[in-house]
Amino acid sequence: MAKTKTIYSCQGCGNSSYKWLGKCPDCGGWNTFLEEKAAPEKKALSHRSDFSGTPQPITSLVITEEDRTRTGITEFDRVLGGGIVPGSAILIGGDPGIGKSTLLLQAMGALASVGHKVLYVTGEESSRQIRLRGERLGAVSENLLVYPETSLESILQSVKELKPGIIVIDSVQTIFSEALESSPGSVSQVRETASRLTGLAKSMEVPVFLVGHVTKEGAIAGPKVLEHMVDTVLYFEGERSHAFRILRAVKNRFGSIMEIGVFEMQEGGLREVANPSEVFLAERPEGASGSAVVSSLEGTRTILVEVQSLVCPTLFGVPRRTVVGVDYNKVMLLAAVLEKKAGMQLANHDIFIKVAGGLKLEEPAVDLGVLAAITSNYLDRPIEPSTVIFGEVGLAGEVRAISQVEPRIREAAKLGFKRCIMPKDNLKGLKGAGGISTVGISTVKEAIEKFF
Ligand code: TYD
Ligand code: MG
Repeated sequence: MAKTKTIYSCQGCGNSSYKWLGKCPDCGGWNTFLEEKAAPEKKALSHRSDFSGTPQPITSLVITEEDRTRTGITEFDRVLGGGIVPGSAILIGGDPGIGKSTLLLQAMGALASVGHKVLYVTGEESSRQIRLRGERLGAVSENLLVYPETSLESILQSVKELKPGIIVIDSVQTIFSEALESSPGSVSQVRETASRLTGLAKSMEVPVFLVGHVTKEGAIAGPKVLEHMVDTVLYFEGERSHAFRILRAVKNRFGSIMEIGVFEMQEGGLREVANPSEVFLAERPEGASGSAVVSSLEGTRTILVEVQSLVCPTLFGVPRRTVVGVDYNKVMLLAAVLEKKAGMQLANHDIFIKVAGGLKLEEPAVDLGVLAAITSNYLDRPIEPSTVIFGEVGLAGEVRAISQVEPRIREAAKLGFKRCIMPKDNLKGLKGAGGISTVGISTVKEAIEKFF
């Protein structure tokens, strides 16, 4: 038998060394090295066979487009790219208590009720707890097998015997392989668990959902390789004090990563929010300065959101800029444009920006809306409340054309907005504005005159 060696591995990135290090030379993390037992060489290699085949010409491979399994939870299916692909491995990360287990149990309950055989492996909650939760969620079905187990070998064995249609592992950090001596949740265990389960998923053509814990920095605990191993990485986000939850794809081999799913946590589980714009705008303070409504494209859907800003004189020291929901550097850039092109004295003002509802806006089209919110609060003049604003802002103070204008205008019209401030270049070839008056502008200066 091969001799086991002690190694030290970085819990952040998986880098390993034969001696303990205070700082990881790979990812730069401090105090991240933990002692682990290196697996005997042969055992570590044995699982390679889970994912193997023979070389075949690509033309001879059969595919059927409509192989995806839909859960019936529209918001969830859309984020997955239209349903669950057979043999795919899907990692769901999120803060503790955000609702990962709730979402999965609800989705699995729905699938089980239409005849799919689901194996729900729980390493955190007891079967009784799952049953109680299942009753509350209406997810009780003969086909939903609850399996409290943390041993990887037993799970693999049961999967081979039971041949389920879908597998859920809640959570990947609680599962351990007997082949390794390190404790559950350590880098080598998480990597081993994920690689054996994804290998099994591929070879048996069964989709596997892995629930992953996140670290306090917000990344999925365990090495980054975990994200490389799976096909899809979803993050379930939201503020625990708020009922809204957003499911976002950060990697998807079978769909767009722009899509988001919006849910509301209620007594009976997660409810889909089919029209998020209405919800995000519900608490908008009308007539207050510093609030602008932008039309943002999230995947295949347009969402209207409120961007809020507070600009106040800096009392001492360096001016503060605090930004939630948009890129920090983007706000810096827009403030500099306002300073130079519109003569605003922002260098001696603190700037706070927040996107209502906990959404993250990454599109360039929201630039003009953020700029409008800053301008409005700086001048203390409320933006005309029935106005929607979008456009990309360039460093020369120009407003650039953006993509897909029609759906943005349509969504605004649907919610009763009357006016749309947008890039002039987008007016060309615009087909129907749905009764909204469109105001085309080409510079920041021009835009500021139109906001109020
Ligand atoms: P859970 O799915 O256990 O979170 P995670 O698996 O991400 O750690 O979610 C638990 C939270 O959800 C808990 O704070 C209670 C709340 N909740 C409801 O509000 N309604 C419900 O029907 C359920 C099942 C949970
Ligand atoms: Mg859980």
